[in-house]
Amino acid sequence: MEMKSGHGPFYFELNTGAKMPCIGLGTWKAPPGVVGEAVVAAVKAGYRHIDCAHVYDNEEEIGLALKGLFSSGQVKRSELFITSKLWCCDHAPEDVPKALARTLEDLQLDYIDLYLIHWPFRTKPGMRGWDPEIMAPLCLPETWKAMEDLHVSGKARAIGVSNFSTKKLQDLLKYAKVPPAVNQVECHPVWQQPGLHYLCKSIGVHLSAYSPLGSPGSWIKGEVLKEPILVEIAEKLNKSPAQVALRWGIQSGHSVLPKSVNESRIKENLSLFDWSIPPELFSKFSSIHQQRLLRGEFAIHETCSPYKSLQELWDGEI
Ligand code: A2P
Repeated sequence: MEMKSGHGPFYFELNTGAKMPCIGLGTWKAPPGVVGEAVVAAVKAGYRHIDCAHVYDNEEEIGLALKGLFSSGQVKRSELFITSKLWCCDHAPEDVPKALARTLEDLQLDYIDLYLIHWPFRTKPGMRGWDPEIMAPLCLPETWKAMEDLHVSGKARAIGVSNFSTKKLQDLLKYAKVPPAVNQVECHPVWQQPGLHYLCKSIGVHLSAYSPLGSPGSWIKGEVLKEPILVEIAEKLNKSPAQVALRWGIQSGHSVLPKSVNESRIKENLSLFDWSIPPELFSKFSSIHQQRLLRGEFAIHETCSPYKSLQELWDGEI
């Protein structure tokens, strides 16, 4: 899983042999009416990796944007790496292929490069929220088997998980015939996840970072881009705090999925490859106070959820 340069952006190699570009455009909270233009701006700027999910409610518009990009010859399907995620109400094995079919229809694609189990909890079929009252019993081995079938069919070229702790990833490996290619988790300078990083590296699972900027302006409370050590390093390097946070990510060995719907920030977030953080500044990141920002309270319930506490959801990694 070395960072390698190829044609176009740098990439990480997954355990399937696929090349995943280091930087992907995040689309969570990118609103309909805006997200399509953001995808077009990103691809024109050089992005070759788009991170989507059914639950973001914008895959249809992304599909239209992709169709336009393909038909205008701006980019070929084979040059893009597109991820989507199975929502929690579709964990029943018979619902997994239907969920991917719906996503492929919305995105107007024949296959997805990476399909992830979005969260290690399950809700009742058809339920889109995450209210504990609509939780259903987990069946991760069966869900994973259905994901493996999608992989074998070629509809999902790689499969993986999201929001899995070290323990949940190890548990999955006990029954997986196809190991996950990726674990997509919250990761940024204020939540660096060294233990999970170490495990992922040792078992050949690529860690991909969502909220790599700490999702400023969202309901996730945290001010990663105002973290004093990050700001100080950015000033020294004459880069923005966002660029330093992202460069820290790819230098640490993980892909980053910054979301932006603003053309100049989309470009700014890709300008990471003609400079680096020198070792004496890189080592300062280890003194940043650590805090998980997306804590997942919505998945906790005394009786309805498999997780009675945040400790159980994250297996102590909180
Ligand atoms: P916008 O879409 O207006 O650019 P994350 O990827 O961690 O979830 O963060 C996404 C948030 O960060 C969005 O609100 C986005 O706003 C903002 N953002 C994206 N790129 C930058 C940047 N380079 N500098 C500051 N804020 C940014």
